[in-house]
Amino acid sequence: MMSDKNRVLIFDTTLRDGEQSPGATMTHAEKIEIAQMLDEMGVDIIEAGFPIASEGDFAAVSEIAKNAKNSVICGLARAQFADIDRCWEAVKHARQPRIHTFIGTSPLHRAIPNLDMDQMAERIEQTVTHARNLCDNVQWSPMDATRTEHDYLCRVVEIAIKSGATTINIPDTVGYTAPRESAELIRMLLERVPGADNVIFATHCHNDLGMATANSLAAVEAGARQIECTINGLGERAGNTALEEVVMALKVRHDIMPFDTGIDTTKIMGLSRRVAQVSGFPVQFNKAIVGKNAFLHESGIHQDGVLKNIETFEIMRPADIGLNEANISMGKHSGRAALRAKLSELGYEVGDNQLKDVFVRFKALADRKKEVYDDDLVALMQDSAANTEDDFLQVKHLRVVCGSDGQSADLTMIVGGEEKSVHSEGDGPVDACFKAVQKIWPHNAELQLYQVHAVTEGTDAQATVSVRMAEEGRIATGQAADTDTILASVKAYVGALNRLKLRREMVGPDADAKQVSMYSH
Ligand code: KIV
Ligand code: ZN
Repeated sequence: MMSDKNRVLIFDTTLRDGEQSPGATMTHAEKIEIAQMLDEMGVDIIEAGFPIASEGDFAAVSEIAKNAKNSVICGLARAQFADIDRCWEAVKHARQPRIHTFIGTSPLHRAIPNLDMDQMAERIEQTVTHARNLCDNVQWSPMDATRTEHDYLCRVVEIAIKSGATTINIPDTVGYTAPRESAELIRMLLERVPGADNVIFATHCHNDLGMATANSLAAVEAGARQIECTINGLGERAGNTALEEVVMALKVRHDIMPFDTGIDTTKIMGLSRRVAQVSGFPVQFNKAIVGKNAFLHESGIHQDGVLKNIETFEIMRPADIGLNEANISMGKHSGRAALRAKLSELGYEVGDNQLKDVFVRFKALADRKKEVYDDDLVALMQDSAANTEDDFLQVKHLRVVCGSDGQSADLTMIVGGEEKSVHSEGDGPVDACFKAVQKIWPHNAELQLYQVHAVTEGTDAQATVSVRMAEEGRIATGQAADTDTILASVKAYVGALNRLKLRREMVGPDADAKQVSMYSH
């Protein structure tokens, strides 16, 4: 049990509930890297995946378990012995392993495996007991708890506690609850369920009505001591509770919510950027805490106030979340040492070889753009991680004609080391370019998302482009940045095709997850 009654555990499920979001699939290496960053940030429990879902999930959870230094490593399992055994096989390598098993308890969810109340109660007793026989640390969740009859919820929570669960998680699976109700539900369980004092209650909220953060905090005020969340609020539909929002809310409003987490908040921005990059889900500009505009004071009145007294309009400092306050620009005369120091400030530690490569890209950018800002460097780092000289498909040369007289593209690409050139017409320059890529590398992938953002202000700003493609149930994203929006678009498109090709060919950990049903039959 926790010694400090006001300590709130942070349970991050970016790699499980977040990654489950269509299109957010991460590679094995990316999952390992994100887990390491979460561990270093002070996340108490990392839900690293759903081991029975695929070989890839199993391999990722096992390796994360082996590497973890401080965090508890948790895996998800349905209420089935095979799931729980597989989960244990993956998490058992951790210094502190946890099995998280769940079943849908609301009337709608009970109907799917066709279990009546008694049969489900029996299944819960058997599976939680089985999990507890394997592992001392067992979390149990009644999926769709917020739409489960209160009497039945109390009954099954009591059974789970008696069967050995050490954490009871109360999910608002469809993002339906509201703050007062979220608090009342936790309070009701703490009051009515025998043995509730001996376990930790967790809150797991989805954001369908935009209330996930408020619902999580209300649950904490009522007695929950674990918040389940994801970086950037990543997750299916409208996502999960955003880690950065609950953590910063508890920090900034400690006066009225006197609860502590173990999170090093200065690591928030680095994680947010990295998760946005590897998941292919960009952060909306006005997103609380980590959005590009979250600390911008554009209007004259605001700027005046901030200059006179920073607290006039700023309730937290950018440095609190690891955002560099002085966005001092760099230019073409800046040297390697300055670049390395600036990258380090932004959370990128680069070795000598990487610095060499990044420096060349930086110089090329500085030649085209007078001032290179922090955001430009972040975009450059993301581009250099996403598109490399080892890629099977590479854009070598692009010439585009556009304007009122028609649009066409002349494109040269390297395909598996071989150079190929084509000419293509299209409805607009981007369409002409994508058709040219299709001519060089015929494919049946469907374009699901094409998004362009300007990195900074000004007509010489870089554009970051995100592309999401789908092919036979596999989804891959590509990202690129360039001052030439059309070139960035083609590079992002080709990047997504490279990732799809890799997915198609893989049989190991990066092979796509099977779509497993969330129901226990
Ligand atoms: O939202 C949900 O109910 C879940 C469970 C698997 C805990 O993610
Ligand atoms: Zn969930």
